[in-house]
Amino acid sequence: MIKIVEVGPRDGLQNETEIIPSDTKVAFVNALSESGVSEIEVSAFVSPKRIPQLKDASIVFKNIQRKKRVIYSALVPNSKGLERAVNAGANKISVFTAASETFNQKNINTSVEGSMERFRPVVRRAGNLGLPVRGYISTAFWCAFEGKISPRAVLGVAQRLMDMGMDELSISDTIGKASPDEVGMLMDVLLSKIPAERIAVHFHDTYGRGIDNILRSVSYGIQIVDASVGGLGGCPFAPGATGNVATEAVVAALIKAGEKVAVDTERLMRAREMLDPYIPAKPDVLPPPDSPACSLCEFFDGKKCCGSMAEGKPQIGPTL
Ligand code: COA
Ligand code: ZN
Repeated sequence: MIKIVEVGPRDGLQNETEIIPSDTKVAFVNALSESGVSEIEVSAFVSPKRIPQLKDASIVFKNIQRKKRVIYSALVPNSKGLERAVNAGANKISVFTAASETFNQKNINTSVEGSMERFRPVVRRAGNLGLPVRGYISTAFWCAFEGKISPRAVLGVAQRLMDMGMDELSISDTIGKASPDEVGMLMDVLLSKIPAERIAVHFHDTYGRGIDNILRSVSYGIQIVDASVGGLGGCPFAPGATGNVATEAVVAALIKAGEKVAVDTERLMRAREMLDPYIPAKPDVLPPPDSPACSLCEFFDGKKCCGSMAEGKPQIGPTL
């Protein structure tokens, strides 16, 4: 059985500039709880100045109706965030670092080393409280600032996080530029040291390869898949990154591939509709040609990118 981690309420909303009312977020999470997903990343206890959309994380957590079989997790950057998450009743926390130094500086204002120092007391205290901890490794394939990231660099960060006591790692393609072969290369390296059941995958769908990348990961024994209903999302600190791969498309593709997934796509779509008044469903778009994500793409020839090519344009967006 593949576990689906719905990250729409956090990763999906963090990039939206129009502030969505807290009660709409609560209704969104409640509707997602009915869909069969294993875990919902409800919000982030980060600096409200950095991510104003999620400053109501405590209110949302306190007002959701919890289902017994669903884990309600929160993104936490430091000890302050952990205390806020604990007070709000998060069942699990996620800390986040990146394989790229530049992205880390822009996202969390510290180096990879600095992030490890920040996490140590967070993971220790979470352990004492019996809270499971996930560690995100952002930019695990490509970085908008540094280009290609080597699998060895990702393994180094992954091993440090596992040594610290993480329960799970989420390997993230933050700018959505990985190819299935790159996924295979990273899995070969990671799985030589870390068991597959401790690894989740998190793909953004900038170039429409999210589904293929997930299917390739699953062929390596990965059983935890992050996704965002309707393909919501992006990271405000990763120029050119578009939304996560859409949960409903992931579920459909996994079922088609013969995997067991106990998620109801109709109910997922009903949850997404709660946001329609604030975030109308967008037509599928390519990143703008001058975005860093685009200039790193193999279709970019220095003048034009795949978005301006008549042929060879990859399929973008959810397939459902
Ligand atoms: N919750 C609420 N406020 C927080 C906080 C938290 N977890 N951590 C720090 N702050 C506040 C501090 O109180 C301080 O406020 P002040 O300016 O009013 O005194 C301010 O934020 C700066 O704190 P500092 O500890 O110096 O942090 P920083 O400036 O080095 O920022 C992070 C570090 C990680 C807190 C910040 O970069 C951040 O929240 N980034 C979010 C990144 C993100 O969510 N990205 C998307 C997900 S990939
Ligand atoms: Zn993401």
